[in-house]
Amino acid sequence: MDLQQVRNDLKQRLPQERYEHVLRVTATAVELAKEVGVSVEKAEIAGLFHDYAKFMDKEELHDLLKQDQEYDLYSQYHAELWHAPVGALLAKERYVVEDEDVLQAIRFHTTGRAGMSPLEKVIYIADLIEPGRKFPGIEDLRKRINGQSLEDQMTECIQHTLKFLVHQYAVIFPYSFDCYNEHVRRRKEQ
Ligand SMILES: [Fe+2]
Ligand SMILES: [Fe+2]
Repeated sequence: MDLQQVRNDLKQRLPQERYEHVLRVTATAVELAKEVGVSVEKAEIAGLFHDYAKFMDKEELHDLLKQDQEYDLYSQYHAELWHAPVGALLAKERYVVEDEDVLQAIRFHTTGRAGMSPLEKVIYIADLIEPGRKFPGIEDLRKRINGQSLEDQMTECIQHTLKFLVHQYAVIFPYSFDCYNEHVRRRKEQ
């Protein structure tokens, strides 16, 4: 795959700020992938595509989402989540990304899920902690995950996200609870 072509495409599709976020997520994911022994090539592709569909209008996203096997589930939740499955769909359609693990990493980067692969976790974590992120508590989160295993980093990240969403009285996608429960159970069993 010609990654420069993907970057040019992203630059056209996304506002500058979001494009730069994508590059930082990709760089963060590549570093983390090296640390934990995940394919750097896959981390780079998944990082670049993770927000590919982020700025499509809602109707277009909704139309594409209809091709998704979990349309019924996604359509009941906030449209903000739709860019993830649609991004995976477009990566496959337009760039012939066939690797299921890469596609799942794009697909679940906003919600997480139970049974995430190491690559999925790398993308989820990189998206949350890339150096441009400024949300309250980010410094504390970065400190807590520093030097931890990939599993423990993911536990901290999904806990952080759920706490944030609950605090906002946001409706939460069920896979995020599944992800949280799985990680907390694993920690209790240790
Ligand atoms: Fe996203
Ligand atoms: Fe992102």
